[in-house]
Amino acid sequence: MYLATLPPVTTIRTCIERHGAPLLLLSTEVVRNQYRAFRAALPGVEPHYALKPLPHPAVVAALDQEQAWFDVCSNGEVDVVRQQSIAPGRIIHTHPIKRDSDIRYALDAGITTFVFDNPYELPKFIPYADRIQLLMRLSFRSPEAIVDLSYKFGVQPHEALDLLLKAQGMGLTVRGLAFHVGSQCSNAGKYLEAIGFCRRLFSLAALEGITLDTLDIGGGFPVPYTEPMLPIQDFCAPIRNELERTFPGVRLIAEPGRFISAPAMTLVSSVMGKSDRNGVRWYYLDEGLYGSYSGKLYDHCDYSVITLRELEGDESPRQRAVVAGPTCDSVDVVYEGIPLPDLAPGDCIISPMMGAYTAASATEFNFFPKTRIVVIEEELPQ
Ligand SMILES: Cc1ncc(COP(=O)(O)O)c(C=O)c1O
Repeated sequence: MYLATLPPVTTIRTCIERHGAPLLLLSTEVVRNQYRAFRAALPGVEPHYALKPLPHPAVVAALDQEQAWFDVCSNGEVDVVRQQSIAPGRIIHTHPIKRDSDIRYALDAGITTFVFDNPYELPKFIPYADRIQLLMRLSFRSPEAIVDLSYKFGVQPHEALDLLLKAQGMGLTVRGLAFHVGSQCSNAGKYLEAIGFCRRLFSLAALEGITLDTLDIGGGFPVPYTEPMLPIQDFCAPIRNELERTFPGVRLIAEPGRFISAPAMTLVSSVMGKSDRNGVRWYYLDEGLYGSYSGKLYDHCDYSVITLRELEGDESPRQRAVVAGPTCDSVDVVYEGIPLPDLAPGDCIISPMMGAYTAASATEFNFFPKTRIVVIEEELPQ
């Protein structure tokens, strides 16, 4: 279990006393540390925080203090960066499929870099051709990534040069290439393959008179959930070497989401009730699959579970139990066979590493409200 970024137990207790449970405790200090670690691992690459895993204003504000860049994909995400007065030149719009109204919404906010991946998208940019620059997204399938993000988007590599020529023929400015090799990647192999192909495509484009000057290597950088992961410095070392070798002088962009936000948020939920069914202990929490644990379904993610009492040193015997969410749906079971001490209503369960694709995909099914996010540094200023 990865507990390094867990807030101190006294902080957790204070927040519960003030607000009750469930709660998501967000640390902007952890956000900033993750960002700095990423920058150190890939110097020369501009990390654009992808808002989607945690589009919280405090995260954007903390990253703004680090002079970060941002990656948005929807009008709502444009609103978040706009409200934080982020300079539009530090923002790119990376959704490959957009309505004309989406393009105009982003342009009104001053955002001028967009992504495309197919010929049907290109005519949408023609009315704004003199104001925009484009990145072309390629597909590099990653069956081994937890979430393969090249299934739904990206031009196939063998069709890429034709698409580039088509865009040029329409008078559009394509500045570079982009890819996303899949979220929570376990090794850098796919990045290296994608960078190698992009290098060749840069050269082929140059022969056709198209000068590309930007490469966007996307997100996908992993964090430890229930299994250890390579530290970011080691994970990125081969990527860094390859970029330095093959793309000197080119503007390099990355779009980390999970790596920045996952360690920054901790879920505190509490036991609403319990029962013994066919000899098995069940605990019903005030958080479940329809709430912050929705990442178990959508993000295929596994989170750790530990009781607050255990963090405080309780070593009483454990018994395997089922942990279920609060809704009336039978699918709303978070874990089965989890060893837990004998818990009472009100006892708290802690899940670290809950900052990415958790609250962002939570629903209010059964009218159980979404869990409140408390920013630790605002709650307990130093
Ligand atoms: C275009 C784009 N960029 C960046 C990200 C962030 O990816 P990750 O959280 O794996 O870093 C995503 C995730 O869906 C994405 O679709």
